[in-house]
Amino acid sequence: MAIREILEVPDPRLKTVSEPVEPHEFDDDLRSLVEDMFETMYAAPGIGLAAIQVGVPKRVLVIDLQEPDEDAEPVEGEDGVERYPAKNDPRTFINPVILDPAEELSTYNEGCLSVPEIYADVDRPATCTVHYQDLDGNEHTEQLEGLLATCIQHEMDHLEGILFIDHLSRLKRQMALKKLKKLRQAA
Ligand code: NI
Repeated sequence: MAIREILEVPDPRLKTVSEPVEPHEFDDDLRSLVEDMFETMYAAPGIGLAAIQVGVPKRVLVIDLQEPDEDAEPVEGEDGVERYPAKNDPRTFINPVILDPAEELSTYNEGCLSVPEIYADVDRPATCTVHYQDLDGNEHTEQLEGLLATCIQHEMDHLEGILFIDHLSRLKRQMALKKLKKLRQAA
């Protein structure tokens, strides 16, 4: 396993439309790509990553929301506050397709490892059904809601070369990019 470099705006590769994983490509290379994507995502840290974000234009997503595990014993953090430890639920989606996005929208304050330090509210369908393949090529259909529904729609945008800031007004997007530029100059 290896941590790969995450592409950041304005890298033009992030605008690539990713290609499907073909039947003969469900192999060890795909397995190590997915392992590296998880390692890269956990290290960042983030909750979702698309293959194009590590420069691979294939329709592959990894997600782990790492939500608090309320069945576990709370652990005291460095700030002295007790919190539930994160529960790991690694999910791999290959060639995902969204079938029936809900008309009802939900708003989430999104961020992206390719647009560091920038957060903005984005409206997306509150629930959706996703059809996808796993690492063995088996097909699955699943109804998603809550943060997982939001997250998979954000990640699927990456497969079309779309970033969450592309959902903002031109003015808000320019302000976000300007803020990022300033943060980089200060670093
Ligand atoms: Ni993203």
